[in-house]
Amino acid sequence: MISAADSPDRASAASGASGTPASRTRTSRREPVITAQSSPVRDLLALTERPEVISFAGGLPAPELFDETGLRAAFAAALDGDAAGRSLQYGMTEGDPALRELLAALLVSRGTSAHPDEIVVTTGSQQAIALVAAALVRPGDRVLVEAPSYLAALQSFQLAGAVPVSVASDEHGPLPDALDAAIAEHDPALLYLVPTFQNPTGRTIPAERRAALAEVLERTGLWTIEDDPYGELRYDGTPAPPLAGDPRLAGQVIAVSSLSKVVAPGLRIGWLAAPAELHRALVIAKQATDLHTSTVTQAAARHWLAVGHLPGQLARLRDAYRERRDAFVDGLGAALPEGSQFERPDGGMFVWARLPEGHDAQALLARALEHDVAFVPGAAFFADQPDPRALRLSFTTQAPDGLREGLARLARAAR
Ligand SMILES: Cc1ncc(COP(=O)(O)O)c(C=O)c1O
Repeated sequence: MISAADSPDRASAASGASGTPASRTRTSRREPVITAQSSPVRDLLALTERPEVISFAGGLPAPELFDETGLRAAFAAALDGDAAGRSLQYGMTEGDPALRELLAALLVSRGTSAHPDEIVVTTGSQQAIALVAAALVRPGDRVLVEAPSYLAALQSFQLAGAVPVSVASDEHGPLPDALDAAIAEHDPALLYLVPTFQNPTGRTIPAERRAALAEVLERTGLWTIEDDPYGELRYDGTPAPPLAGDPRLAGQVIAVSSLSKVVAPGLRIGWLAAPAELHRALVIAKQATDLHTSTVTQAAARHWLAVGHLPGQLARLRDAYRERRDAFVDGLGAALPEGSQFERPDGGMFVWARLPEGHDAQALLARALEHDVAFVPGAAFFADQPDPRALRLSFTTQAPDGLREGLARLARAAR
C-alpha cells in the first residue's frame, strides 16, 4: 500500500503502472473542502478543562443558575401520557406551532414585529446563522460583519463559501458611511450584526446609530441578520429599539435569538423570524440539514415558557450577573497591565479589553495559563486586520469570589 504521504506527486500516482483498485481509490480521493479554522475559543476551552483553571474564556452561563427544577418538570410534562407520543415523534421542520407562538410573542415583547408563521425553530441560534448563509451566500460572496464579530458566525459564513469583510466601526458600532461604501464596493450577500451586548465586545449600538444604519440598509435593500442572544441580560440602562422592529426594514431583517443564554445552552433551542420571501428557502435548508430540531426538547421548552418561568429566571440572572459584572470590572484595572483600556458593559457576558502599546494578548495568555487563569485573545474575532492587543473576558461563569481569585492570578501573570 502506498499512503498519500508516500506519494507527494498525486498526478504521477494517478498515471501509475499498477492500475490497481487501491490506486484508483487513492487518486480520486478529494481533500476536505472545509478550510475554515477551528474556533480558538473552542480549542481554548479544551485547555481550560483542567479543574484548577479559572476561565474567563468561554461564554458559558453559570450552571448553578440553570432552572433545574422547572426544566425537570417541563421534560416530565413533555413525556407524560399522550404527550409523549408527539414529543418522541418526527415533527414539522418549522418547529412546534405552539412553541413558535411563544417565541413570536417573545420577539414582540422586545419590540420586534414577528408572526408565528415567520418563525423557524433552530438547533441553537448558531444553526439559524448557518441556514441564512446557506440560503443567501454564493461561493466567493462577501458578507459584511462588525470589527470585531462573533467568531462562529464568521466560521459559518466561511463554510458557506463567503469571505467576511468588516465594516469600519467605532465604540458605537459600524459607521453608517463605511457601511454605505462597503455595500457599494463589495455587493455583499448580507450584513451580520449583534447590536446588543455584542460578542465579543459587550457593546451596544445606540438608538441614533441604529437609525442611521437603518437608513443605509433601507436605501440599499441589503439582507441583514440581527442576532440577539444577550439583549434580555440587561443590568443597567434602557433598551435600544431592535432593527427588526423598524418599519423601514420590514421584509429585510432576519431576527435571530436563542434560549441558550437565558435558559440553558444544552437545550439547543434557537429561532429565527424571516420575511416571507426568504422563509421557504430557510425551511428547505433546515430540512436538508436536520429535518427539524428535537421534538422532545421543543416540547419541554414550550412547557417551560408556557408555565411562565422566563420572567423570574431573567430576574435571577440579571441580579447575579450584575453583581458578577461589578466585581469583575471593579477588579480588572488592577489585574491588567497599567494603561489597559476597557468599558463596563450594560449587559451580556463579556468585557473587551485592550492592552497598552507593546503588549500582546497571546503572550499574556501563555503566562496566564501558567497561573491557571484563561481568557480569549481578541485577534480571532476580526474578519480582517486582527488587533493583537485585544482580549475578551467573560464574567458570568464564576461567582464573585472566583472572579476575584482569577483576577489575582491574572495580575500575577501580567506582572
Ligand atoms: C452572538 C452569538 N450568536 C449566536 C450564538 C450561538 O448560540 P446558540 O447556538 O447556543 O444559540 C452565540 C453563542 O455564544 C453568540 O454569542
